[in-house]
Amino acid sequence: MSPRITVVGAGSGYLPGVIRGLLHRASDLAGAELVFHDVSDEHLQVMTLLARNMFAAAGADFTVRAETSLKTAVDGADFVFTTFRPGGLPARHLDESIPLKHGIVGQETIGPGGFLMACRSVPVLLEIARAAPADAWIINYTNPTNIVTDAVLRHSDAKIIGLCDQWVGDTEVWAGLLGLPVDGLEIDWIGTNHGTWAERVRLNGEEVDLAPRLADLAPAGEATPHREPVRMAELGKALGLLVNSYAKYYYFHDDVVRELRDKGRTRAEEIMAMLPGFYAQVAAEAGKADPDPSRERGGGEHGEFAVDVICAIQRDERRRLILNTRNQGSIASLESDAVVETPCIVGRHGPTPLVMGEIPRAVRGLTHAIHEYERLAADAATTGDTRLALQALLAHPFVTNKRTAEKILEEGLAAHSAYLPQFG
Ligand code: G6P
Ligand code: MN
Repeated sequence: MSPRITVVGAGSGYLPGVIRGLLHRASDLAGAELVFHDVSDEHLQVMTLLARNMFAAAGADFTVRAETSLKTAVDGADFVFTTFRPGGLPARHLDESIPLKHGIVGQETIGPGGFLMACRSVPVLLEIARAAPADAWIINYTNPTNIVTDAVLRHSDAKIIGLCDQWVGDTEVWAGLLGLPVDGLEIDWIGTNHGTWAERVRLNGEEVDLAPRLADLAPAGEATPHREPVRMAELGKALGLLVNSYAKYYYFHDDVVRELRDKGRTRAEEIMAMLPGFYAQVAAEAGKADPDPSRERGGGEHGEFAVDVICAIQRDERRRLILNTRNQGSIASLESDAVVETPCIVGRHGPTPLVMGEIPRAVRGLTHAIHEYERLAADAATTGDTRLALQALLAHPFVTNKRTAEKILEEGLAAHSAYLPQFG
């Protein structure tokens, strides 16, 4: 049976990449029915037209339908692919600037900024979880993906997998730093989303001895908005393991605060400046017989990764993928129902986490702290309990002062009140 795949947030700038991801697996998903939903009718229509014309040009056997009602959109779905940002980029700008005003890194997915985003995302995901068919898989990119996944798993009966493609690009950075080819390289990333580490690496199945390579590491490489190879190398050398690109926020916190302040412009503002041009180009391409839209948002791996997860379940591929799901013994010292990011075998019954062992001691305490924060954040975002919300912020490693936490919470909840019905 061909699947019905509903995309919630189909007007997103990431959609061209998702469409290409679908095209990449067109024969494996032949006959699939795509249902696109978005709160912006304009973006929904343009992406629907784009998808239809790209599929037609490639001869892909997919149908695409735009649906403005969420309830109707998820009806009968086998997969509900969620990829949206409640409040859009203006809300992200607040997430990035409110903590910074108080001397804390302002980031969309981690720290107090990520907490505020969780408070907006979780209620919407819970609504989708309740509206979706009981046997549908929610394939979630909406951030913070791990907190959203945890809230849905513990506060609804739905099935959900949290996605993040960060490890794909991080693997490429580490291949460069270690002087290893990317092809055939398998890294055992484990931890929590945007807080993963690795001390085991295989090349074509053969274990690589990391110690001498880390000791000789020459920090080098061009920085991008989300990856600083020089800092990643410096941390890798000090900690004796491979770090995720987000590790800089924990280990260079005060430097990053200074840099963000000096920059004077949030990442959200940068993207807002770029998006009108992006959508204009998509709109200009969408009606063409063979559209070729820009791939500025997300890069190739973003869409392909999500479609690979769907294919792995649909076709019972038993494929190894790194996902956010319940721990179930994958990481020794984290509780069984903790949501972790870890390698899984993915087939018809969803992800089965592989037994990975223990988090390296150098980063174990930090990982545990992040996990405890995330769990409190999932509960606070679900219930709208302000005391729990304060506890979550106080548990976060970035927060070292109760007064600061209270101020960020008060300002953040007020600024986002239109998206926070649970805190009403
Ligand atoms: C990476 C992260 C995502 C994050 C994105 C932001 O892909 O894994 O979780 O949302 O970067 O990228 P942007 O271009 O919006 O700053
Ligand atoms: Mn991510």
